[in-house]
Amino acid sequence: MSPIPAVTIREMNPGDIEFAAALARAEGWSSESPDAFAAFLESDAAGCFIAEAGGERAGVCVAAAYGRNGFIGELIVSPRLRILGLGRQLFEKALGRLDAAGLENILLDGDLNAVPFYEAQGFRKICRSLRFRGRIAGKKHDHIRRLDPEDLEPLCALDRELFGDDRGFFLRRRAGRFPDLSLVSERGGRLSGWIMARPGGGLLAIGPWAALEPEDAGPLLEHLASEHKDEIFRVGVLEANAAAARRLRSWPGFEEGVFSWRMVRGPSGRLGDHPALYAIGSAAKG
Ligand SMILES: CC(C)(COP(=O)(O)OP(=O)(O)OC[C@H]1O[C@@H](n2cnc3c(N)ncnc32)[C@H](O)[C@@H]1OP(=O)(O)O)[C@@H](O)C(=O)NCCC(=O)NCCS
Repeated sequence: MSPIPAVTIREMNPGDIEFAAALARAEGWSSESPDAFAAFLESDAAGCFIAEAGGERAGVCVAAAYGRNGFIGELIVSPRLRILGLGRQLFEKALGRLDAAGLENILLDGDLNAVPFYEAQGFRKICRSLRFRGRIAGKKHDHIRRLDPEDLEPLCALDRELFGDDRGFFLRRRAGRFPDLSLVSERGGRLSGWIMARPGGGLLAIGPWAALEPEDAGPLLEHLASEHKDEIFRVGVLEANAAAARRLRSWPGFEEGVFSWRMVRGPSGRLGDHPALYAIGSAAKG
């Protein structure tokens, strides 16, 4: 038997982005592109970790801190270096980063096989985090248009209210990076909803997607589809948002895939479960 290599956990740097994205690709996490890892690094480099075993890169995990809540995601260890304790060490580093920030709740989307591990770390299940994908019919709507830079501050303020914490960094970055994938709806001259997406792995990952009036939710997605014909969309939604889950389950063209569990460590698991939120931003960011 070969000896167990020495393990170190260090902060991620830009030179690790391709390595991390390759691990995600190999897991089939198609929307976790190099740009997604670049966003985590820009947000908080001290919350992004790489494991090395015997001097070789072997795993990744990231922590994202908002005001009172944080997320842990992108926990992946190279297949041939699993079961050696690297996953646990990476996870504990990310947890330590968020604990040091004094956050009230730490959340994650846990794959089924990893749930017992997270439960042992003090997390509990809140609800299923559903996944849908498919092609949908596009249709243009008069009250929907591309997001303008002036929309960003009202959008971020509204998102804080609906989501329950400040994820403005990621919203601003997403809108700046993918302006043709960022739409808003208006009612009476006021912002009434928005939808954003990002490319990754040959499909478009939708989210966040918010509609103050339920009647705006469908048109936002249809309008986006009308501008991106032939694309496959991927959407994640919390089952706690019952109306959104119902809507996606009955939408022609969407198929439901394997779900994960939204889990929390802390008193409140309500983050992101407002009924106006039709899609999560991403599994690792809420
Ligand atoms: C989950 C993962 C990161 C664990 O990494 P690892 O380095 O093998 O994990 P460790 O050796 O530190 O073990 C951590 C715990 O997870 C358990 N575990 C590890 N691999 C497991 C597997 N394939 N299935 C179920 N449990 C597993 C171990 O039993 C251990 O728990 P214990 O200490 O109570 O026995 C790794 O299997 C992986 O990259 N999986 C694919 C990506 C993934 O599913 N990530 C998690 C998404 S939420």
